[in-house]
Amino acid sequence: MTDSFIIAIDGPAAAGKGTLSRRIAEQYGFHHLDTGLTYRATAKALIDARLPLDDETVAEKMAREVELAGLDRDILSKHEIGEAASKIAVMPAVRRALVEAQRRFSEKAPGAVLDGRDIGTVVCPDAPVKLYVTASPEVRAKRRYDEIIGKGGSADFEAIFEDVKRRDDRDMNRADSPMKPAVDAHLLDTSEMSIEAAFQAAKSFIDAALSRNA
Ligand code: C5P
Repeated sequence: MTDSFIIAIDGPAAAGKGTLSRRIAEQYGFHHLDTGLTYRATAKALIDARLPLDDETVAEKMAREVELAGLDRDILSKHEIGEAASKIAVMPAVRRALVEAQRRFSEKAPGAVLDGRDIGTVVCPDAPVKLYVTASPEVRAKRRYDEIIGKGGSADFEAIFEDVKRRDDRDMNRADSPMKPAVDAHLLDTSEMSIEAAFQAAKSFIDAALSRNA
């Protein structure tokens, strides 16, 4: 039993779920965990130790050592770490270890917002609010591209677009916990919706669920 009100937010990379999750957590004074960072931290620990990315026993050991309090978005946001994360995320033992830690986090009172790929389906299937935030691959690739250019970097749109599609394919087609909307998730397609509009839509679902819970 837990007194925590859980908001589960899933969807593919660059659909806007990170920004939306942070905004929701701030609005309601809830804790927030970007679960992608837990897969990224596991992958980075393996890379730093020059260990292989295809040994499930070794990867599970690293996953069990991940400290949720020490996850640093800036350090973990590198493209290569995201690619490596999606490779180790297919391993059931790695997922079991990280899901245990994520479930413990979700029990924090007064509430928690968790975002990822399998929160509404596997990590917190009883969450009273589930959102599935998506956008077309073209729009997501364009957002990534604009973000890199905006920071003064250089980028190749076609290469980013191919990366987005490859990562979606790996996340949607893995056997264990594939990325998909929970049957009771509210779908938010941000292809042509501003983050503000998505936030307002999310807020109305959350407020309705909070008043049912009260
Ligand atoms: O969201 P982010 O891009 O940081 O996630 C990196 C990778 O971690 C994803 O491509 C996915 O393979 C994996 N992941 C996952 N389940 C989650 C969160 C992330 O499999 N709940």
